Formats: sequence, C-alpha cells, structure tokens
Amino acid sequence: MDVNVLGICGSPIKGGNMEAMLKHALEAAGAHQGVSTELLHLANLQIADCRHCNWCLAKQEEGKPCIIDDDMQAVYSSILQADVLLLATPAYAARLSGYLAVFLDRFRCLVLGKHYRGSLGGKVGGALTVAWLRNAGQETTLLSVISSLLMWGMIVVNPGPGTCQYGATGLSSDVGTGKFDPKDRLGVLKDEMGMRAAASLGERSVEIARLLKAGKQALA
Ligand SMILES: Cc1cc2nc3c(=O)[nH]c(=O)nc-3n(C[C@H](O)[C@H](O)[C@H](O)COP(=O)(O)O)c2cc1C
Repeated sequence: MDVNVLGICGSPIKGGNMEAMLKHALEAAGAHQGVSTELLHLANLQIADCRHCNWCLAKQEEGKPCIIDDDMQAVYSSILQADVLLLATPAYAARLSGYLAVFLDRFRCLVLGKHYRGSLGGKVGGALTVAWLRNAGQETTLLSVISSLLMWGMIVVNPGPGTCQYGATGLSSDVGTGKFDPKDRLGVLKDEMGMRAAASLGERSVEIARLLKAGKQALA
C-alpha cells in the first residue's frame, strides 16, 4: 500500500542539524516498500503570513486553496497528497520557529476553507526538534507543534517507548552541555538516541498510515 510522507524543515539554516535529523527520519520511512518521501525546506520558500482575509472561507475553489500568490500555492498539493506530515523545527525560545509558525498558519484554508474544509483530518503527523541544550524547551517545542495537529483532527504519532513521548528530540551540542567541536556543524549526528528517535518516528508514522489506509479500505 503506497504511503506519501512529506517532511517540512522549519529551520532557517540549510544543511543544518534539523535538516539532517529530518532526512534521517525520511530515509527510515522511505526504506519501506511503496513509501515515497519529499523534503521541503522552508528556508527555500517565500511564504507570507495568513492575513485572516477569510477569502478561503467564502470563495475558495478546487485547485486554489488560498488567495495569497506565493510559494505556498505549490506546497498545498504536496500537503493534500501526503498521508504523513513530519514537521521539524529547532527549539526557538522553547517553542517552534517563526518559519514553521507562519507555515502552519497557512493550513487554515485546508481546515476551514469552503472547498478543502477538513482536508487534514485523519492524516498522520509527527514532530521533531533539535535543541542546543539538554533541558531547554524540547518538549514544549514539540507540544507547540502537535497541539495544532491534534486541533486539526490529525493522528499524532510518537517515536515509541524509550524515547521522547511527544516526538523526536535531538541535541546539537555535545550531549546537550553547550560544548561543541567548531569544525563540526552537525552535532546532532552524534546524538545516537535523537537520531534513533527520528528514524523510529519515520517508521512508526508509515506503519500507522498503512493501518489507517487498510482500515478505510476494509470499511469502504
Ligand atoms: C532564536 C533562537 C532561539 C533558540 N532557542 C533555543 C532554546 O530555547 N533551547 C535550546 O536548547 N536551543 C535554542 N536555540 C539553539 C538551536 O535550537 C540549536 O542551535 C539548533 O541546533 C539549531 O538547529 P539548526 O542547526 O537546524 O539551525 C535557539 C537558537 C536561536 C537562533
């Protein structure tokens, strides 16, 4: 059964820790037969804030979820086709980055829009974060993401027992102490537990998406 997994990287840094961790999750998901993966890096896209103009509520049409003419137009079709959304953000002041917050606000037209209302319901979602310090907002960051997914009726998946309960968390300084090797930009790759959690989140989200699809087919 085919499963489409869309990973969104909400770090302003291209090729940084968050992207490396998200790629690991997508590789683990993509290792399963029939799974296709796509990674979108928000730093490569021009995405404006939702203006609360309510165009989507009254005038939305098929093929045009939002009136704002920016890079989000092309992204909407990837979101609609995805069975799984993996949302990744570095911990910024113990919550999601501004890039990801702006991006998630633009989902309103898929939740409440005249044509696309409820389009996110039943999709599988998971969150990943990377932080510099061991106890500096990883869980609040993940909660700031998954609370939106829950509100939209998505099925939130975690990486499973023995990891973080709210999503996958990685540390980019040496075991979260703040020490680092200046020659090594990608400290998260040394965080074995964080990388394992990312892979596990990728795999579990595919497993749950498959079960949901099989269940829907069986009931149809
Ligand atoms: C604006 C800002 C806020 C940050 N807030 C936190 C924080 O609350 N907790 C933390 O551990 N690290 C914090 N950091 C550090 C980043 O989360 C950390 O360096 C992370 O690895 C960045 O990921 P990247 O390599 O993908 O950019 C912050 C960094 C910035 C720029």
